[in-house]
Amino acid sequence: MTTQRKILVTSALPYANGDIHLGHMVEHIQTDIWVRFQKLNNHQCYYVCADDTHGTPVMLAAQKQGLTPEELITQVQASHLADFKGFLIEYDHYYTTHSEENRQFSEEIYKTLKANNKITTKTIKQLFDPEKNMFLPDRFVKGECPKCHAKDQYGDNCEVCGTTYSPTELINPFSAISGATPVLKESEHYFFKLGDCTEFLTAWTNGSTTLSNGQTQPHLQPEALNKMNEWLEGGLQDWDISRDAPYFGFEIPDAPGKYFYVWLDAPIGYMAAFKNFCTRNNIDFDEFFKVDSTTEMYHFIGKDILYFHALFWPATLKFANLRTPTAVFAHGFLTVDGHKMSKSRGTFVTAKSYLECGLNPEWLRYYLAAKLNSKIEDIDLNLEDFISRVNSDLIGKYINIAARAAGFITKRFNGQLSTRLHDTALLHNLSAASDTIAQAYQSREYGKAMRDIMALADQVNIFVDANKPWELAKQEGQEERLHEVCSILINAFKILTVYLKPVLPQVAKQVEQFLNCQNLTWADAQTYLYGQINPYTHLMQRIDPQLIEQLIECNKQSIQTQTNTEPTDHEPLAPIITINDFAKLDLRIGTVLNCQPVEGSHKLLQFTVDLGFEQRTIFSGIKSAYPEPEKLIGRQVVVVANLAPRKMRFGVSEGMIVCASGQDDSEGLFLLDVDSGAKAGMRIS
Ligand code: 2FM
Ligand code: ZN
Repeated sequence: MTTQRKILVTSALPYANGDIHLGHMVEHIQTDIWVRFQKLNNHQCYYVCADDTHGTPVMLAAQKQGLTPEELITQVQASHLADFKGFLIEYDHYYTTHSEENRQFSEEIYKTLKANNKITTKTIKQLFDPEKNMFLPDRFVKGECPKCHAKDQYGDNCEVCGTTYSPTELINPFSAISGATPVLKESEHYFFKLGDCTEFLTAWTNGSTTLSNGQTQPHLQPEALNKMNEWLEGGLQDWDISRDAPYFGFEIPDAPGKYFYVWLDAPIGYMAAFKNFCTRNNIDFDEFFKVDSTTEMYHFIGKDILYFHALFWPATLKFANLRTPTAVFAHGFLTVDGHKMSKSRGTFVTAKSYLECGLNPEWLRYYLAAKLNSKIEDIDLNLEDFISRVNSDLIGKYINIAARAAGFITKRFNGQLSTRLHDTALLHNLSAASDTIAQAYQSREYGKAMRDIMALADQVNIFVDANKPWELAKQEGQEERLHEVCSILINAFKILTVYLKPVLPQVAKQVEQFLNCQNLTWADAQTYLYGQINPYTHLMQRIDPQLIEQLIECNKQSIQTQTNTEPTDHEPLAPIITINDFAKLDLRIGTVLNCQPVEGSHKLLQFTVDLGFEQRTIFSGIKSAYPEPEKLIGRQVVVVANLAPRKMRFGVSEGMIVCASGQDDSEGLFLLDVDSGAKAGMRIS
């Protein structure tokens, strides 16, 4: 009997101003699998999460939609919860950071930090929007990059050259909210003296905790520790924890008009969510948060928020006289087909669209599990691999075992499993893998766990092929062997189901129904079924590749409905078109045979263009950019070849030459270059 551990687990709190997408799902699925594994092993494990509701973006998003922030966060929370539920994420409690518990904890923690001499104030200068009467967070200032001069860059870093800078360094800055030119203004801010915590943080980040089961748990993964050591060596800056009104958040006690910065109260939101859960369920909250607690606390997070969880949060807890985390588990980002998720490519897949397109959440749970490990590596969702991995592993190797054996048990043996299993070597092998697979789950090496489980499924399928139940069924005198073989297969299927239960909770539930064995736990990988089973009903469909195409299409179209109200200095994109719209254009390479000015027109040039199969006369208004039109002779151009002919004052134009231009043509119109391999008549796709 192993000791029962008491564990509190969290996933990072999603912001209340955006949809849940597959990137979030990586983390919540990773956490959910771990929690389900702990619960299957009878540990007292609680999983809490909440919406992260405070801050300027939520305040502005509410304003834009004509809602109060409270109204917005209530709506968003309902939608987030529906998405997570759809992916079978089973929180013990999903709360909000905009709660009384959180306000109280934030105030108390702040007061204790102050009493421990960890709070100071400084006057700082910050960009201020004189029209909106508010200080501008870095992301709400835009302008030209001071390094590479790319336009329209955010105030914290340049997306073109990657330089990080302060918003005051931007050239021609403007407020992304009102478009006004910001001014520098002074204000008093509250700081958490992180520099004073260096000694503690050096020890904590390098440290580990001995668990109640005797195992040693390092606080950070090796890659995270390296990063932290870099930061610690570089010297820790004090952390600005206040923001000026207007701000959606908690006002700082004794500091009217000053609010806690969202990142101060967000992790405290973990505590607040758990407190609310404890109150409702009569659980001793203090046992988990007192300074010498023997309970465990784990935070699953993305690599981008390590700084907050591995430095600010442990220091906050320590100097608020509370327990510190047992470990912080960071994961990498999700890429799709090797690229960053992209709205225009349709790979920024929202959780809702995945479910609405009829995709099974357990396909993704399995695929991500097969890819996840304990390292901070990015995870690629390769859509082709997704289809083939799920179809070949889950359906081909696992589900098919039940499908092949159950029919015989139902039809030939009245649903009764054999009570005499002699040939149990296979089942012994399966049961014996329990500790290795458990260790892989425990250490978040889910990919290894899935490989081990599928290797066991391979063994089972080898047993099927060696014993051929469909042939035994036709042979006389093989009744008993058929019964035994199929009963072994059903038992093997049950053991595999136990191993997959953290990943496939819904399938596991259906299997429990089918095999009459409710609430399978990890220990059930060691027990055999001898009783009655129910007729087999199909447990999971294969992935139809068309569904994936629809999903991508659907996420491409969804940006059509998003309005971009932030001011930009580039021309806004035209409404999104589908691939079918694009396919209507027949774009061809043409060679300019002749080009001359048009008498009586100061804009037009008359082209004769060879499309390979015919010649066309095309009038094009690009004279101002090409004062010496004869120089264009011989050049290759891109022609819209299926444009209806247009009668103009100077003749009929039989197509259009593609040019680049601004919103108005005042800067000129420019021909596009065609690479040398392209020949007249070739179609552009
Ligand atoms: O990065 C984010 O999405 C934050 N909302 C995570 C907060 S986690 C915790 F600290 F609250
Ligand atoms: Zn730049």
